[in-house]
Amino acid sequence: VGQQRLKISVIGTGYLGATHAACMAELGFDVLGIDVDQAKVDSLSSGRLPFFEPGLEEVLARNLAAGRLRFTTDYAEVAEFADVHFICVGTPQRADSNAADLSYLDAAVDALAPLLSRPTVVIGKSTVPVGTAARLAARLAGTAPAGADVELAWSPEFLREGYGVEDTLRPNRIVIGTAPGSRRAEAVMREVCAEQIAAGIPFLTTDLETAELVKVSANAFLATKISFINAMAEVCEVAGADVIKLAEALSHDDRIGGKFLGPGLGFGGGCLPKDIRAFMARADELGVEPALSFLREVDAINQRRRARTIDIARGLIGGSFSGRTVGVLGAAFKPNSDDIRDSPALDVAATISSLGARVTVYDPEALENARRAHPGLGYATSMLEAVRDAEVVLLLTEWAEFRDADPDELAKVVAQPRIVDGRNALDPEQWRERGWTYRALGRP
Ligand code: UGA
Repeated sequence: VGQQRLKISVIGTGYLGATHAACMAELGFDVLGIDVDQAKVDSLSSGRLPFFEPGLEEVLARNLAAGRLRFTTDYAEVAEFADVHFICVGTPQRADSNAADLSYLDAAVDALAPLLSRPTVVIGKSTVPVGTAARLAARLAGTAPAGADVELAWSPEFLREGYGVEDTLRPNRIVIGTAPGSRRAEAVMREVCAEQIAAGIPFLTTDLETAELVKVSANAFLATKISFINAMAEVCEVAGADVIKLAEALSHDDRIGGKFLGPGLGFGGGCLPKDIRAFMARADELGVEPALSFLREVDAINQRRRARTIDIARGLIGGSFSGRTVGVLGAAFKPNSDDIRDSPALDVAATISSLGARVTVYDPEALENARRAHPGLGYATSMLEAVRDAEVVLLLTEWAEFRDADPDELAKVVAQPRIVDGRNALDPEQWRERGWTYRALGRP
């Protein structure tokens, strides 16, 4: 009673950090977010999100207005302010290998450590190769003036883009890994998560290495599940079977379950593809490469779906893309996101364009990002505009707008009513009845 609430800093205000900062403030904490990118800090400070995420801008605005949330570029201010620091910087794939690039993480720790002169807990949330946390803990203890009074713990984040607020406020579990001899990190985390723990959300404590591995193994499992059903789709295609019916029948076995069993163009985004590759690279370094060699197959199955989608479309227009007109629906790696990192949709669109077709892309949210990354593609600001005069239409991201599309309305503007449903998002019967040549992945 009357106890001062913990003050929280969030280091790195990209997708993960901005969401985490806003949600910690929503839980009632005073939060200071820090980023080296002044433009990002200015944007967030004025209540504008530098990316699309349903529901987050409202949480940001509400907590800025309440004075619980601020952003800065000044590490000294952050070190002075916070009792607990959450590290949320990116760990992208390195340009020269499959391993994770840890330079942002090292830079954050090196900037913060020399300024930590009182007891502090630093909690990493970024996705990292196993062993990173222990290395950073030593680095921190060696540099911070408060020495052993600065503890490092690791609490991986499991949020999905498009559901960031919901997943942060009500995660399906909280995991915290602590170092041997840690005295305060777990208690601090329990205080931060008190509301969630009271609501019955499982709170699991582990060592640092297990916590790091929980995250990458969760993403490896999810990627494997998607590639499993896509491998079945490959078999269905040659056997004349229907992978949608197959997946539905599998899903009734609750040991298997129906989630992440959606066959189609496969997985992309800033997480699953780079995480499985970094996991393999780390296993290699640790000398247990064979344990994860199946992930190479998971990656290969995923890539083959893109090639297969292109083949189906090419087949529909007589064997060559040269000089043909193609309409593409979707650019984001999944619906409800403007993220185009490793987007299967844009990869397919760019390949078809490189094969000589005139490709026009439409996406409800990701157009600006797509245009920046692939300036050579054509872009339209509506679905109908994108498919105008198309000899084949490809649906590559399953936005609700495309699921609900009226086949008659599209038929009026295309050159030929042919569609490749790369996400099994449409009802084949309905489209065929309206005169469309409808093709999907894994179905007759
Ligand atoms: C993923 C994980 O789901 C999160 O739990 C994790 O926290 C996050 O990565 C991360 O590491 O930060 P996210 O990348 O937002 O989240 O996207 P997902 O919803 O997992 O979708 C990934 C890809 O799989 C998308 O391209 C989606 O289209 C595809 N997918 C998903 C399928 O092809 N089939 C399915 O059945 C499900």
